[in-house]
Amino acid sequence: MFSLKGKSAIITGGGSGIGKAISTLFARQGATVHIIELNAEAAAQTVSEIEGEGGTAKAYSCDVSNQEAVVKIFNEIGTIDILVNNAGIAHVGKADTTSEEDFMKVFNVNVLGAYNCLYAAIPALKKSSTAVILNMASIAANVGITDRFAYSMSKGAIYAMTLSVARDYLADGIRCNSISPARVHTPFVDGFIAKNYAGQEAEIFGKLSASQPIGRMGQPEEVANLALYLCAEEAGFITGNDYPLDGGFIKLNN
Ligand SMILES: NC(=O)c1ccc[n+]([C@@H]2O[C@H](COP(=O)([O-])OP(=O)(O)OC[C@H]3O[C@@H](n4cnc5c(N)ncnc54)[C@H](O)[C@@H]3O)[C@@H](O)[C@H]2O)c1
Repeated sequence: MFSLKGKSAIITGGGSGIGKAISTLFARQGATVHIIELNAEAAAQTVSEIEGEGGTAKAYSCDVSNQEAVVKIFNEIGTIDILVNNAGIAHVGKADTTSEEDFMKVFNVNVLGAYNCLYAAIPALKKSSTAVILNMASIAANVGITDRFAYSMSKGAIYAMTLSVARDYLADGIRCNSISPARVHTPFVDGFIAKNYAGQEAEIFGKLSASQPIGRMGQPEEVANLALYLCAEEAGFITGNDYPLDGGFIKLNN
């Protein structure tokens, strides 16, 4: 079950955290993995780990917010069966404490970046008989999270793009879904704790763990397992849905 043998998968942000776990698992399941990454060194590391396990992967140094660069690379890749729009950045702030510059930075990576990859991938996906898109949203798309104004905006857009794309390409056989994780322990989390809560790292890590009713953060591999299911042919009846992966965050936090 869940074989991706013979499939060509593009994964953005595959150099770290959730994207790395998805890249590794998809390669293990037989996919040829194409990693689109800003951080070339991190992407090369993922590729080398995949190759060390006997898998096939290639890294492409690219900023997803640059449409011209994204289109060029996707054309070079040619065949695409799976697109995982995962690259994203975090931001802490409320509407009146978020600068225009920061707002646009989050927008450019998280929203424009996902759009650019959709724009570039859909013509190739139309030629695949098992085409599927998976977008990385967040619980912030559906729940009001304190101090995450720009980030929540960006994930709300991901949620809406998922529905729009799922609808528009039904006739082309392209499925499109999203995953909404709560807190997952990745460098993304460690990075923003270090940047925004210097000196209170342990306390904030504990608070962020406890905010999932299940009592811990998720692991990147747990997101990758759901990603594999949603991108495999076994999930052929699933499109236009968002899947929370949240340790009870949305429904049990009362
Ligand atoms: N970690 C969490 O708690 C959590 C929760 C919900 C949703 N998410 C989402 O999951 C996704 C992955 O998060 P993560 O925690 O693995 O993050 P991470 O920071 O560990 O990895 C993100 C990767 O994306 C790459 N990237 C960033 N900007 C890019 C750009 N402009 N072009 C290409 N690559 C770029 C980074 O270099 C990095 O390797 C993000 O979209 C994030 O919003 C994460």
